[in-house]
Amino acid sequence: MKLRKLVSVVGAGNVGEHTASLLALRGLVDVRMFDLPKKDGDRLIEPVKGKALDIQQMLSALNIDGKVEGYTVSPEGEGYEALEGSDIVVITAGFPRRPGMSREDLLSKNISILWVISEKIKKHAQEAIVIVVTNPVDLMTYAVYRILGFEKNRVMGMAGVLDSARFKTFISKEVRVSPLDIHAYVVGGHGDEMVPLISISNVGGIPLKDMLPREKIQELIRRTQFGGGEIVDLMGTSAYHAPAASIVEMVEAIVTDNKRILPCSVYLDGEVAQYYEAQGLCAGVPVKLGNDGVEEVIKLPMTEEERHMWRRSVESLRKNLSTVEELLNARSSL
Ligand code: LAC
Repeated sequence: MKLRKLVSVVGAGNVGEHTASLLALRGLVDVRMFDLPKKDGDRLIEPVKGKALDIQQMLSALNIDGKVEGYTVSPEGEGYEALEGSDIVVITAGFPRRPGMSREDLLSKNISILWVISEKIKKHAQEAIVIVVTNPVDLMTYAVYRILGFEKNRVMGMAGVLDSARFKTFISKEVRVSPLDIHAYVVGGHGDEMVPLISISNVGGIPLKDMLPREKIQELIRRTQFGGGEIVDLMGTSAYHAPAASIVEMVEAIVTDNKRILPCSVYLDGEVAQYYEAQGLCAGVPVKLGNDGVEEVIKLPMTEEERHMWRRSVESLRKNLSTVEELLNARSSL
């Protein structure tokens, strides 16, 4: 019997590498990392194997149990056999955002990459739960969901945990209370129109709207909405510490079956889609996570103003959805 769960991380760039490292440090799961080789002058090197080895040795130094392995793959999809047996596959592969680039600019490039990876997941890890991180994440989650054809509870995108962590960080600084005692959810698409929900945000049980003036709250909302961009502008590349930590939070909820309620991007249909007025697309909503992946979609109350923001966010996702469909259809007729 396999005792430890196996998490595969596809893409060992900044986010993937830090995800693997944090997962290993938690000591809960074994980790396999997958990435392309790289050119170093005229030599071909295999950074993913080096990174895995480095993390494995870090575990020895810290007396933590666990197995970390790296696998070099090709852009055409060779080398993915080791996905076999994965309980969870995290997809971080793709082009990252550069300064001045919107998440949507990444669309077509990243769909091609995710197509190859999804085909391999279908082949080698049919039972896995899949967490999509590649941007634009809601659209990429939808694309992966469509390509995989898995049940909707087994495909989810990471964004809301990250956006909510940012929101909590900013609230925490403002009210000088530990983020541990701050409850705040950010829902909607992971774009500049994401929806930090003020009406249900609270600090130690006290509604946020009773603690800060409206203008201050608006400022925190705006900073959260541009939270990713703020870091891209400062670092010249996408954030990776908080994104990796957010993935780990989701993985931990799934493997420990702890039933946490975390905002994740999931495929909406049926009754919840009706409630959220968002049929047939992926968007960030609070869900209960456990061994079965998304075990429940929570219907959060929203004020009229929040609902208005929510609709705008969904609208902007829907605008790009037809492009995704076209890209998917073009690809499947190849
Ligand atoms: C961010 C990227 C991961 O928000 O979208 O930092």
